[in-house]
Amino acid sequence: MFDQAEHLRLLTKQEQKLPLQAPKLLMISSGKGGVGKSNLSLNFALALQQIGHRVLLIDADIGFANIDVLMGIRSTHHFLQMAQSDLSIFDVMNTGPLGLKFIAGGSGFSEISYLTADQIQVLINQMSMLENQFDYIVIDTGAGIQEYTLKMASIADDLLIVTTPEPTAITDAYALIKVLVGRIQAPAIRLVVNRVASLVEGKEAADKVVLVAKKFLNTQIQVLGYIYDDPNVQRAVMKQQPLLLFQPNSTAAKCMQQLIRNYATGEPKEPIRRMSGNSFINKMMRLFSK
Ligand SMILES: Nc1ncnc2c1ncn2[C@@H]1O[C@H](COP(=O)(O)OP(=O)(O)OP(=O)(O)O)[C@@H](O)[C@H]1O
Ligand SMILES: [Mg+2]
Repeated sequence: MFDQAEHLRLLTKQEQKLPLQAPKLLMISSGKGGVGKSNLSLNFALALQQIGHRVLLIDADIGFANIDVLMGIRSTHHFLQMAQSDLSIFDVMNTGPLGLKFIAGGSGFSEISYLTADQIQVLINQMSMLENQFDYIVIDTGAGIQEYTLKMASIADDLLIVTTPEPTAITDAYALIKVLVGRIQAPAIRLVVNRVASLVEGKEAADKVVLVAKKFLNTQIQVLGYIYDDPNVQRAVMKQQPLLLFQPNSTAAKCMQQLIRNYATGEPKEPIRRMSGNSFINKMMRLFSK
C-alpha cells in the first residue's frame, strides 16, 4: 500500500510527464489582518516545491509586503519594476530555499493603479512568459476587501481564505467570502483555520463560516485544514527561516504538511489539460486592465 508521501510523489511524476500549459494560480487571502497568510503562503509554496512542483511565490500585499523578510533574503527588486524599467519578470525574481522562486512586493502594488497603458502591456507580456515555466503561482495578498485582491481572486484557480478562531477573524473571513461570491462565478474557496488550540476549536470556527456561507450565500466552502497555535511559528519568523525548514517536526509544520496533502488529494488524479495558453494571457489581461 502506498503511504501519502508515495502517493504525492506519484502524482507529481504523472504531472511532470504532462505538457503543462499554464500555471495554477493559488491565492491566499484573509478578511482580518495578521492571521498567518504570509507564513502559510511561504510554507505552502515550499511544500509544493518540496514534492517536485515548479513554484513561483508572489508577494502581492499592498503596503506590508514581507515574504522576503520571512526568508531572510533581501530582495532588491519588486514586482512593478518590470513595468517601470527594462527588467524582465525573470530579472525581478529571486531564488529562495529549495530553489523556490519568488517575487517580492515592495511597496510596488500600491502603484498599480497609476500605470500607463504601455506599462500595463509590458506587465501582461512579462506575466505571459510564466507559462510553461511554473506549475503553481502562489499569491500572498493583503488582508481585507481591496479592489486589487478581488481582481486577483477573479483570475485565481483556487482561493485559500485564512482565519483564526477569533470571532472578529471569522466575521471578517465571512465578509470577504460574501464579496468574493458576489463578484466571482463559482469560486473554489477553501478555508484554513490557523492558530487553533484544539481540533475541536478549529472545527467549531470552520463550521461557523461553512454553515453561514451555505445558508446565506448558497456556497459550499471546503475546509482545507487546521494549524495549531505553535510558538515555533514566531521562532521561525524571528530566525527569518520558513517553518518547514526551521522546525519540520513542529506541530504547526506538520499541520501545514497535512494541508498540502489535503490540497493535493483534491487535485485531479488523472492528467488533465489545463487551460490553453491563450486563456492564461487573457487572465493576465483581465488582471491588469483598468
Ligand atoms: N500557527 C501559528 N502559531 C503561532 N503564531 C502564529 C501562527 N501563525 C501566525 N502566527 C503569528 O502571527 C504573525 C503574523 O503572521 P503573518 O505575517 O503570516 O500574518 P498575515 O496574515 O500575513 O499578516 P498581514 O495581514 O499583516 O499580512 C506571525 O509573525 C506569528 O507571530
Ligand atoms: Mg502578510
